Amino acid sequence: MDPGGAGEPDDERNAEELAEADGPDVDGWDADDERGAVEPADVDEYLAENRRHWEDAAAAHPDTDHYDVAGFLDGASSLHALERRELGDEVCPGTDLLHLQCHFGLDTLSWAREGVTVTGVDFSREAIATARDLAAEAGLADRATFVESGVYDLPDALDGQFDVVFTSYGVLGWLPDLDRWAEVAASFVRPGGTFYLAELHPLTETLPWDFDGGDAAFVRPYFTPAEPSTYEGPGTYADYDLELEHDRSHTWPHALGEILTALLDAGLALEFVHEHPFAVEEQFEGMTRGDDGHWRFESGIEVPLTVSVKATNPA
Ligand SMILES: C[S@@+](CC[C@H](N)C(=O)[O-])C[C@H]1O[C@@H](n2cnc3c(N)ncnc32)[C@H](O)[C@@H]1O
Repeated sequence: MDPGGAGEPDDERNAEELAEADGPDVDGWDADDERGAVEPADVDEYLAENRRHWEDAAAAHPDTDHYDVAGFLDGASSLHALERRELGDEVCPGTDLLHLQCHFGLDTLSWAREGVTVTGVDFSREAIATARDLAAEAGLADRATFVESGVYDLPDALDGQFDVVFTSYGVLGWLPDLDRWAEVAASFVRPGGTFYLAELHPLTETLPWDFDGGDAAFVRPYFTPAEPSTYEGPGTYADYDLELEHDRSHTWPHALGEILTALLDAGLALEFVHEHPFAVEEQFEGMTRGDDGHWRFESGIEVPLTVSVKATNPA
């Protein structure tokens, strides 16, 4: 199981199916980028296939135990202690917050329930439709807007700037070009405003999926390769047995230095970079949940499992 996709690596792609792709344009992809020789047309195809995968996942995920939709509608927050603690000073009633790659909106709406005015963005039409329905059902529609857009296309779909631009857990691997991602994210941060990322630590992408806190070898690349990793088969992070019609997806690992440099190059000023020896969810086998709600290896091994970054727009 891969954190956002599924199954075993499989580089054999069905060219006919990919050619039928109906996906977003990938403005900003730089074919001359030093990281490799992936052509823009290929990237469009990869992203189109990812979007089909995410349409299916977004339709299935609200019914999984991973997402406690009933609990949310009863008043529970889906946010983790980490982002609430680290963003606590910036987010209060009246704050306006842009949530990139919001999936079907549970975290977005959990911020809204705290009085925050939220705008959630995702390229999955299904996810955005569900988010809008949940906003209405939870009585939060007056301060929640959801926009269907790819991250790279967002400047064409949304105007304005925000006090906080927020994105979390399982987002960066879906993006081939982090420089463009950072430019887009930074462009939506109001002068003096905050950018915040909480993400699976890039080191975890190199570990075997069945890593249990014992001996481990690096089995996947740390640095961004020319071609993405392709996964095919059942299961997503929300349900390891989930069968999706479009069960093939493509991800790009990004090293920590690449993430941070992209944010700096986009003009943001880093306030902190925290590497945490815990996961906010049960990411691997052999983990137990502590009283603080965080997951750690029973073996006691401490490897970086989560990274959080806070930056400001100094302009
Ligand atoms: C792992 S989910 C994020 C999950 C979120 N942290 C949560 O628990 O609800 C990743 C999201 O990124 C979205 N996504 C992937 N690639 C995207 C892109 N290029 N532009 C916009 N959204 C994208 C997917 O549709 C999916 O909703």
